[in-house]
Amino acid sequence: MASAAGNARPGTACLLGGTGFVGSRLAARLSRQGWQLRIPTRRSRPPEDLRVLPGVRLFSADVHDPESLHRLLLGCDAVVNCVGILNERHRRDGSEFEQAHVKLVAKLLDAAGQAGVDKLVQISALQADAERAPSLYLRSKGRAEQLIRTQAGPLRWTIFQPSVIFGPGDGFLNRFAPLLRYFPVLPLARAGALFAPVHVDDVVSAIERALVDPATDGQTYQLCGPDTFSLRSILGLLANAMDRRCLILGLPDWLARLQAMVLERLPGQLFTLDNFRSLSLPSVCSSDGLGALGISPRSLPAYLAATYRR
Ligand SMILES: NC(=O)c1ccc[n+]([C@@H]2O[C@H](COP(=O)([O-])OP(=O)(O)OC[C@H]3O[C@@H](n4cnc5c(N)ncnc54)[C@H](OP(=O)(O)O)[C@@H]3O)[C@@H](O)[C@H]2O)c1
Repeated sequence: MASAAGNARPGTACLLGGTGFVGSRLAARLSRQGWQLRIPTRRSRPPEDLRVLPGVRLFSADVHDPESLHRLLLGCDAVVNCVGILNERHRRDGSEFEQAHVKLVAKLLDAAGQAGVDKLVQISALQADAERAPSLYLRSKGRAEQLIRTQAGPLRWTIFQPSVIFGPGDGFLNRFAPLLRYFPVLPLARAGALFAPVHVDDVVSAIERALVDPATDGQTYQLCGPDTFSLRSILGLLANAMDRRCLILGLPDWLARLQAMVLERLPGQLFTLDNFRSLSLPSVCSSDGLGALGISPRSLPAYLAATYRR
């Protein structure tokens, strides 16, 4: 693997969560750069576009099993952890967040140490905070960060905290686009919540940089796009790009809570109380991580116009 930015030599990396939105985009980029990639998945049918990437090996593996994790990491120079869940499927007590975000990172630190992995890149979230965050999601992300900062030992690490991420196949715009297409009125919780949406390829560039540049070791980077928008204005821009007329009705918090309590019990969990709590904090950056890495962020309006214009 490389020892300095600009002197990059691709090595072998394991991508946990490599089948997801960010992970699969990262896999495509690293594959093009000549990395050898190991991608574990729980899926019986991993995405076809990953299977055909040069240098990529997909494994059916349970990454929560320490032995499987150790085997996956043996011979790897780096590991990128893109595993994340926004909602708990079966319980709402934080145990699924704990399992997916915190316990997995604890096992990852152990296994990476034993396997002699050199570098860990962790994808966290803006406003992650082990004690003070308002939601179980953000607190668990914060605890994972804490573990990495205190227990990584000789393993070099970089943490990224993105705002909401957009790009081909994202779960954010693609969740709202059908609602805007088919409903004339959209009752929206936390309509004033602030975001600085960041393009997936800019997040991928940051991760790629962290894999090869030792100056990123021990650093936490916030990742934001160039503009800040309220949730309402993002949906307005999306509706405009789709040439749809939809009345976006901001809900008062008491009604938004009620909406979340109903929706979290329905299949698909479009919105949960924990999401509602996460949205009480602005998902915006207080420092310019992309700028520090020399990456110029892409803008959301340009992407919307290019992608959703009919
Ligand atoms: N997308 C955003 O707007 C955004 C914003 C801020 C932070 N983030 C963070 O960025 C990371 C990547 O997000 P994403 O949008 O790419 O997520 P995603 O598309 O939902 O992908 C999540 C990945 O995690 C794996 N995974 C989920 N639960 C797991 C579990 N319990 N055990 C093992 N693997 C599990 C999935 O693997 P399988 O193939 O096995 O299903 C999938 O590959 C996450 O940590 C997320 O919290 C995302």
